[in-house]
Amino acid sequence: MRILAIETSCDETSAAVVEKKSDNYPVVISSRIASSSDLHSITGGIIPEQAAREQLQYMIPIILQALLESQNEEFIDLPSAFKRGKAILTQSIDAIAVTQGPGLIGSLLVGVETAKTLAYTCNKPLIPVNHLLAHLYANWLIADGSPQVENIVNNHTQRAISFPFIGLIVSGGHTDLLYFEDHGKYQWIGGTRDDAAGEALDKIGRLLGLPYPAGPEIEKQARNATHKSITFSRALKNSQDFDFSFSGLKTEAARFIQKQHPISEKDISEICFAVQDAVTDILVFKTYKAAMRYNADTILLGGGVSANDALKDTFKTENLKQKMKPNVIFPDKKYTTDNAAMVGAYAAYNYIPVDWRQIKASPELHLV
Ligand code: KG4
Ligand code: ZN
Repeated sequence: MRILAIETSCDETSAAVVEKKSDNYPVVISSRIASSSDLHSITGGIIPEQAAREQLQYMIPIILQALLESQNEEFIDLPSAFKRGKAILTQSIDAIAVTQGPGLIGSLLVGVETAKTLAYTCNKPLIPVNHLLAHLYANWLIADGSPQVENIVNNHTQRAISFPFIGLIVSGGHTDLLYFEDHGKYQWIGGTRDDAAGEALDKIGRLLGLPYPAGPEIEKQARNATHKSITFSRALKNSQDFDFSFSGLKTEAARFIQKQHPISEKDISEICFAVQDAVTDILVFKTYKAAMRYNADTILLGGGVSANDALKDTFKTENLKQKMKPNVIFPDKKYTTDNAAMVGAYAAYNYIPVDWRQIKASPELHLV
């Protein structure tokens, strides 16, 4: 089965063609992403209306590029791409998947309404997808002929996704822990009570004058830290539940930053290290605790923050101390941040088409 997948929940506009054959893992046939993050890097954050306006411009060309690329055809000009794109969609695509939510309403509307129109006009089944669950499904993708996952405990190429697993979703808008028994059968076991991990990094980065999104910049700066003597508190680390809280870290870091006058490059690196250390420490601690409690020997990561190498390293080091030594699996970096291929992977395993008239963009779509 070939799925055309569409993702527009935040500031990316992405389309991909994913193919799933019987028991095999879904293969990325083509994948295209346009981002307005350069624009938002200037404004220091996302301006939702501006993001949606950009997405309106990108949406159709990105879909056409993904469709043409799926047949190894070149995009020469818009009129011929329209003609070929329609033919490819009609003849070689079996279903369309689209991110329904959560996300920014204007952005979601662009993807959802486009997908509905295509499903109706080309008479294709349409599968609405929860963006957060799709982040975990990035782990099932195969691209460039090889698995794109990184099993940080065992051999890289050894794929060990087995149920039950604990899923940690760490993105700019969400931090959630899920217990998965099977596809479509999961339980939300905890999440952030305030800011998401990525959101905290972005806000602290902004205070330090780093460009948006600050997560990757904080990671870069943290590599230059040498003293590593600043320690920020770890909220809820010892709570009995699986909740997180990152807004206190932001306040603590803000107070600390205010006291540094003038702030040097060196200070910035040390602060970035301390912030990253606090975030990764709590995420890793609670995720292993969940794996123990639920007797799950696999952990799956997903979302933009899972691109962070320090998070990976902390999972690796802590694994040695764990009794169970679960397999810890990260998606390939290019599928950690928002992309349509993961939406296609989700739809391939959770193939539940819905009449297009019933599908609405849902900014607050819940996990349960
Ligand atoms: O999953 P994503 O692309 O979008 C949402 O669904 O929110 O995640 C974006 C978040 C941003 O907060 C960004 O700062 C963070 O992921 N991020 C990172 C890294 N790359 C992206 N955080 C830490 N280290 C990174 N390398
Ligand atoms: Zn995301």
